[in-house]
Amino acid sequence: MKLTDEQKAMLEGEYGEGAAYAMKIEVAIGESFDAERMVPITRAHVALSNQDADLWFAEKMLEKGAHCRVSPTVNPGFCVSFFKERGLVKDEDAEMMMRTHNAYKGLGATLTYNCTPYVATNIPNYGEICAFSESSATPYVNSVWGARSNREGANSALCAAITGFVPEYGLLLDENRKGNILVNIEADMKSDFEYHLLGYCGKKIGPGIPVFTGLPSHISPESLTNLGAQLNTSGAYGMYHIVGFTPEARTMEEAFGGKKPERVVNITNKDLEDILEQISYSGNRKIDFAMFGCPHFTLNQAKHIASKVEGKKLSVPLWILTSYHVKELADRMGITQIIEDAGGNIIPDTCPDQPCWNWLNGKVGVTESPKCAYYPKRRGIEFVIRDLDTCIEAAIKGEVI
Ligand code: F3S
Repeated sequence: MKLTDEQKAMLEGEYGEGAAYAMKIEVAIGESFDAERMVPITRAHVALSNQDADLWFAEKMLEKGAHCRVSPTVNPGFCVSFFKERGLVKDEDAEMMMRTHNAYKGLGATLTYNCTPYVATNIPNYGEICAFSESSATPYVNSVWGARSNREGANSALCAAITGFVPEYGLLLDENRKGNILVNIEADMKSDFEYHLLGYCGKKIGPGIPVFTGLPSHISPESLTNLGAQLNTSGAYGMYHIVGFTPEARTMEEAFGGKKPERVVNITNKDLEDILEQISYSGNRKIDFAMFGCPHFTLNQAKHIASKVEGKKLSVPLWILTSYHVKELADRMGITQIIEDAGGNIIPDTCPDQPCWNWLNGKVGVTESPKCAYYPKRRGIEFVIRDLDTCIEAAIKGEVI
């Protein structure tokens, strides 16, 4: 790979041991993908996981004196104060969260603890080169904003934030951004929920860059968030196109770069029903709790739940996971109060795949998100998956009807 004088100096340690280490990793990634050069980034998002390996790496970089040149936003861990106050988290888990917080703070990250930065705090412009990790984030910035990022891991995105550079390969290059699978949507896309199920059709769609046709002319940011999150739960997709909607697919010809699709896939109502049947827990229709916000809920989604539970009493706990800024707005607008009066909570900074939920082992919840159902399985937590309104009704009644 050709390196500039600045990049060589960084690799040789002139910018400190931490930056040299990060550059060594970036160069190794570049060489493994046959990248010819490194290019500067202007944004990054690090999917910190608050788990041993990521924390080990972040602390190691901090010890070596690394500091982010491009301050990345970061993924959720869990809200220590919420869970500690209620005695729901072990001391060692709270300590790990604090270590994660301190490591990323020391590295100079922007401590957003939110997995949907691309709709609020970290929105790239068209064509901007970024390093985004997190399943729903990479396809959103590539497909919806027309920015450019490879599917970074938490560690490679952190190295990019530290060095300010990424190797130029994959989705950073025009020729790799064209679609190769035509996906005709024949299913009725009635709400944001169907986009969760469509995203979970990754096995049927197969590897590549899907080009969707037949979707409604207006698609909400929440639907697009759901689509990206689930595409990367059921498969591995850095980018998709929606003909006539996303910026690099104004026409079919543009979406495919003038080539013919390698595969054509039709998605019907039956496909979505089959997926739901496969992934939803069916052994128990009584539920113990309801959980929403994987990916993190927007203010509109929280508002919608408030409108449905206002003046009612929930039979089971209901948790809405969101960003600190949506929580702040919900507090100011009285949304939090309505939800708390019904018996629910809005929790900032928190992800379902965190040790703060270990106490739910053996319980069955309801959610509208397949990703929310997927990760907590390893903690012995099961979910019935339904559309949002059915889930809210279930939380009110204590069972899925
Ligand atoms: Fe976000 Fe965690 Fe779900 S990072 S998408 S809330 S698994």
